[in-house]
Amino acid sequence: MSITPQQLLESALTRHRGVLSCDIVFGDDAGASVGHDDREAPFVPDDGDGEEPGFLISITDEDPERLCAVVRVAEDSDVLGVGIDLASTEDWTQDERGERFAELLFTEHEKALISAADGSVPLLRAKVFSAKEAAFKSTATVLRRWYESHDEELYFEARDFELVSWSESRGAGRRDRAAISCAKLGISRIEISFTEYADMAFCVAIAC
Ligand SMILES: CC(C)(COP(=O)(O)OP(=O)(O)OC[C@H]1O[C@@H](n2cnc3c(N)ncnc32)[C@H](O)[C@@H]1OP(=O)(O)O)[C@@H](O)C(=O)NCCC(=O)NCCS
Repeated sequence: MSITPQQLLESALTRHRGVLSCDIVFGDDAGASVGHDDREAPFVPDDGDGEEPGFLISITDEDPERLCAVVRVAEDSDVLGVGIDLASTEDWTQDERGERFAELLFTEHEKALISAADGSVPLLRAKVFSAKEAAFKSTATVLRRWYESHDEELYFEARDFELVSWSESRGAGRRDRAAISCAKLGISRIEISFTEYADMAFCVAIAC
């Protein structure tokens, strides 16, 4: 049996320093009171116009499920960001559409990981896709901080992240634009872990 999203988040954070609390909230209202920055990334607002410090937040919305991860960290925590993503297997069926998506979005390395793994191909593809999106989302908090003090634009997107291996310790690699941007942002590693929830792939990415 798969572990729950809450258990996955807890286990992904166990080896990290300065994690004060972590919760996954479920339902249509999950994360309803958050703010959004210029890139649509969520943040916890303070009482004024600013952001409440010490909160890392990520939302995923895949009909009919909506999940919000809220992680509270101490100032000395090595956790720089959290990203979660739910990916349905429906887009990844082994028909013409699924093959076209896989060809378009996955790297050669990711295609090889999927071919070598046991299990359902649509679920494996959904996992790889959720890893790319969660990795991208995990950079949002540091990116927001970066723009507070830099004029230089950093361009990268979810497809610039690559699932390096299925094991959490190796996580997601960055290619090209994302690698350059993450180096500037001070992100040295993005750890990826998976479970299944509501018949979908669920991924947690921890940027550190
Ligand atoms: C961020 C992204 C991966 C999310 O994909 P999605 O299919 O909408 O994913 P989900 O439904 O799982 O998640 C939706 C949630 O993602 C979060 N989100 C949106 N943009 C985000 C971002 N840039 N960073 C982090 N989280 C983001 C939001 O909380 C959103 O929910 P909400 O609007 O209700 O708060 C996708 O929108 C994307 O790739 N956007 C492109 C952004 C981009 O390329 N920016 C370039 C600037 S560097």
